[in-house]
Amino acid sequence: MSENHDSQDSTLLHVDQLTLEFGGLRALENLSFQVQSQEILALIGPNGAGKTTCFECIMGFLPPKLGKIHLYPPHHQTQRLNDLKPYQIAQLGVARTFQSIRLYEKQSVLENVMVGRQIRTKTSTLGALLRDRRTQAEEQQIREDSFQLLQRMELEQYAQVTADSIPYAAQRRLEIARALATDPFLLLLDEPAAGMNRQETEELDELLVELREEFQLTILLIEHDMQLVMKISDRIIVLDRGRKIAEGPPQQIRQHPEVIRAYLGEQAIS
Ligand SMILES: Nc1ncnc2c1ncn2[C@@H]1O[C@H](COP(=O)(O)OP(=O)(O)O)[C@@H](O)[C@H]1O
Ligand SMILES: [Mg+2]
Repeated sequence: MSENHDSQDSTLLHVDQLTLEFGGLRALENLSFQVQSQEILALIGPNGAGKTTCFECIMGFLPPKLGKIHLYPPHHQTQRLNDLKPYQIAQLGVARTFQSIRLYEKQSVLENVMVGRQIRTKTSTLGALLRDRRTQAEEQQIREDSFQLLQRMELEQYAQVTADSIPYAAQRRLEIARALATDPFLLLLDEPAAGMNRQETEELDELLVELREEFQLTILLIEHDMQLVMKISDRIIVLDRGRKIAEGPPQQIRQHPEVIRAYLGEQAIS
């Protein structure tokens, strides 16, 4: 696949026959899918289906037992992610948010975003220690870029307060801001609407669609809120017990008998 990848092809990520086990438990079984440039692809399914595990594999935190993951970064050669460390994958332009919020709670909102931005800097450790002029200029740039991102995410009013002191929905947006600060082309969001009320969720869906345009992002989205998923996804993949049971556009997934049986059940989907 890697050698034959056609540059005209818009595939950005290819997950190929991924299998992963925890002890005797098969969390992912022979999972394959591709992500196309600038689509919003949702990964849905019951709790324990393997969705987060799939993200962990892509980000290099969990080594798959079997299978391959290839990334096709724009203007860059093909990368086999199985061989890379999480920081290398982040530097290639893949970012993620976590299912349960993981912020530096006692650091300021601005500093949380600056941490994301730092993976893009060139400063040496020695430079950082000496705080030479170049390092200082770089830090100032990071600060400015990060503040701009806060403004875009309507978080600038919180810039100087600690991350744990801002409203819940704002913390969720801050996680996305921090991920964006790494300048990704592929963004993995793990249940970004979890814990949000209806209005907050609707604001989030608009925001995600806008961010995709503004940052030319491709988004892989794990989410339980079916209104959100059905509204903004171009395609949906359904997992059940580590296996893919369906893949297709929202209209098709909504009516898929096995998906209804395994997951959607009687949920009202508008
Ligand atoms: N670190 C781990 N150690 C052992 N089992 C795990 C671990 N992470 C996830 N699992 C198990 O793998 C399965 C898939 O989990 P997960 O990927 O978190 O599902 P989802 O995100 O779809 O709810 C579950 O049965 C879960 O209990
Ligand atoms: Mg999960």
